[in-house]
Amino acid sequence: QIIDQYFYDEPAYDYHDGGYVPLEEPATPQQPLNIPEILQPDQETATDMYYTITAQTGAVQLLPGTKTKTWGYNAPLLGKTVIFKKGKTIHMHLVNHLPEVTTFHWHGLAIPGPIEDGGCHAPVYPGESRDITFKINQPAAMVWLHAHPCPSTAEQVWHGLAAAAIVQDDHEAALPLPRNYGVDDIPVILQDRRFHEDNQWDYRADYDPDGVMGPTPMINGTINPYFDVTTQKVRLRFLDGANRREWRLHFSDDLPFTQIAGDLSLLPRPVKMNKLMITAAERQEIVVDFGNYQPGDEVILYSDDTPLIHFRIHQFTPDNTKIPDQLFTTPDPAVDPGLGIHYVTLDGCDESVAMNGKKFKMDRIDYEMPMNKVQIWDIENTNDRPGMIHPYHMHGCAFTVISRNGHDPLPNETGLKDTVVVNPQEHVRIKVWFNVPGVFMYHCHIIEHEDGGMMAQIKVIDPKNPDKQYHLMNHM
Ligand code: C2O
Ligand code: CU
Ligand code: CU
Repeated sequence: QIIDQYFYDEPAYDYHDGGYVPLEEPATPQQPLNIPEILQPDQETATDMYYTITAQTGAVQLLPGTKTKTWGYNAPLLGKTVIFKKGKTIHMHLVNHLPEVTTFHWHGLAIPGPIEDGGCHAPVYPGESRDITFKINQPAAMVWLHAHPCPSTAEQVWHGLAAAAIVQDDHEAALPLPRNYGVDDIPVILQDRRFHEDNQWDYRADYDPDGVMGPTPMINGTINPYFDVTTQKVRLRFLDGANRREWRLHFSDDLPFTQIAGDLSLLPRPVKMNKLMITAAERQEIVVDFGNYQPGDEVILYSDDTPLIHFRIHQFTPDNTKIPDQLFTTPDPAVDPGLGIHYVTLDGCDESVAMNGKKFKMDRIDYEMPMNKVQIWDIENTNDRPGMIHPYHMHGCAFTVISRNGHDPLPNETGLKDTVVVNPQEHVRIKVWFNVPGVFMYHCHIIEHEDGGMMAQIKVIDPKNPDKQYHLMNHM
């Protein structure tokens, strides 16, 4: 059977907010969808990969006329896609060529914090660099890199500091799924922007403490994109890289598609659907089968009523591969009986956002937990209904969703996650464990809420080194 609903609390959708900015179909000509290049290593051995990542300014021809001033990683806007292979040790040389301090956060990687993780305690000042090393030890998934300085994460992401990274492993590589990057396997970074005079962005002018939005969809840094379909099946790895906007995705003809993965793993079983909602920072991977279309046809991906991508169908060879019924075994470690439930509340909206009644402080640890122990966390959105949806994110770990107000999780949130949407007045229970030590942030991923203080920090203690001290900055 085919899922044909978006699941979440409709009265809490963005479009009920007084400051909502509706999407508009761009009036400019269609452009080929930008496919970010794959980042080439500086050096590679059988076990180690060496990369340089440079945060830089640039300018891009997004609209006819003046180029838009942008920021990106090794590219003028967004960045190149990094490929991580499970088991490899990664050496990153992180360089800041921007006019201000930034950080390089690996959203979704389970690597030690706070330095490798790249939150607010790992600044790289203008003209400087930082070297980090970490090992990839997690299942295949798409993660991402974004700036995370406090409190200007939102503004830097708006300038363009976000890039996709793909973790590969042998299990996923053996499954009959599309994985020819750029041909039948493409990252789709969903963002929205407002163009001001001379085609420029102006974050301050558009500022909204509940999340900055713009009317123009920007997909992989392309305005009004089309994609040439040359294979029957195409895998789309959606990343909601918007500051606030949630996207309700569906195709023309109500074309059904199959979701195969969420944030941090494949789903245990594929889920057939024709409607999919994705909120800030989440990843959702689908396979679309264009088998019923002819060369010359066009299939449109929409969010609500606004076209996002035009898929232009070309000749392709028939593809009868079937997506397996079993894709992944989601880890389900036993909860440690000594650890009670940990309660987190997501409070308020606009300037009054907080977590557990407090605003974030860089030099305050809010909670401690031993490494490798498993605990149930109860995440509550205390907004009255209708209120707002808060996408809750944790650094440094993967979690599983246990229940929503006591009910089963949704069929497409049964894999490993790092971001989970919480409806107003809802308690989402998750199973949390860390395989790496350090200080990590957890927060709402409406980025203005995070910058506004709906964020806290956990210290994950390695039993082999329980007294390890972390240097916590109190400003950047
Ligand atoms: Cu996408 Cu604190 O992260
Ligand atoms: Cu993160
Ligand atoms: Cu929020």
